[in-house]
Amino acid sequence: MFKHLPANVTINEVGPRDGFQNVKTFIPTADKIAMIEALIAAGIKNFELTSFVSPKAIPQLADAAEVCRTILAKYGNQINGSALVPNLRGAQSAWEAGIREVACVISVSASHNRANINRTHDESIADLAKMLESLPEMSVRVDLATAFACPFEGWIQPEAVSVLAARIQQLGVRKIVLADTIGVATPDRVYALSTYMRQQFPNMDFSLHLHDTRGMGLSNTLSGLMAGITTFETSIAGLGGCPFAPGAAGNTATEDMVNMLRDMNIGTGISREKLIEVISLVDEKVDAPINSHLAKAKLYDCLN
Ligand code: COA
Ligand code: ZN
Repeated sequence: MFKHLPANVTINEVGPRDGFQNVKTFIPTADKIAMIEALIAAGIKNFELTSFVSPKAIPQLADAAEVCRTILAKYGNQINGSALVPNLRGAQSAWEAGIREVACVISVSASHNRANINRTHDESIADLAKMLESLPEMSVRVDLATAFACPFEGWIQPEAVSVLAARIQQLGVRKIVLADTIGVATPDRVYALSTYMRQQFPNMDFSLHLHDTRGMGLSNTLSGLMAGITTFETSIAGLGGCPFAPGAAGNTATEDMVNMLRDMNIGTGISREKLIEVISLVDEKVDAPINSHLAKAKLYDCLN
């Protein structure tokens, strides 16, 4: 029916970072680790495990080093565990904690870059250059926040995304995540931006991070798939949101994504049934509502 859909999709689970960062009540480190372990048991191989940011900005993730050390000591050769960083200092701390891939966050809108990490684009680009130079063995991808719209500036033009991506590419980065930080993108916009960026940067590996704030996470995902994107960032139980973007809310839930792809015969390597067990654990350990369809829906044995 749909032409050119991939046989397999890579899911990068960002719940332990994007999900937990937005939860006010501190989640004990052992509980964070238990939830990541349960996700690994469900088949998840790619994670954003945490972020190395100022503990004043995100107190919830002040235990980043301990989470990474514990998980990587046990599962380092089984998973790709990355972490979000806003600056060189974060990347250095991540390296010391055993992380070998970081997601360096830069917002396409100047005002969200200021609100989120207190930097201009020039400062962010300079910091990224220093990061690549001083940690040459670290794999660095860039998360382009507010790639579709900004809570302060409104819709973002694809050309603005392209201008920033060109500066990033020039530094040698080969992976960019296009993020709908406030969850306002629509399927046409996702298709248009994904297609445009892939045409402009044929050697860049693009992935999508689509918040489900207005219920368009899965339809936007389908648009991304049709535009040739094969890596998506999702969050268990639909947790998530940027505390520095007013109105931002949950991600597309990992379990909803896995459910859709599974029934479309697109492989993820992740067990839908085991993810449902993880939702119960999240419900028990995290003081936040569960935002997924699958959490509420019944599975029909006759459809298996
Ligand atoms: N990890 C831990 N602490 C850090 C840090 C890092 N990567 N970078 C800076 N800090 C500390 C500094 O040591 C300083 O501490 P102090 O107040 O105890 O002296 C404090 O943070 C401020 O440092 P400064 O360099 O002046 O940064 P800033 O005030 O301009 O803030 C950021 C910049 C990037 C550190 C801060 O805005 C931040 O952490 N933002 C993260 C936002 C986020 O995670 N958003 C959601 C994900 S997209
Ligand atoms: Zn996000």
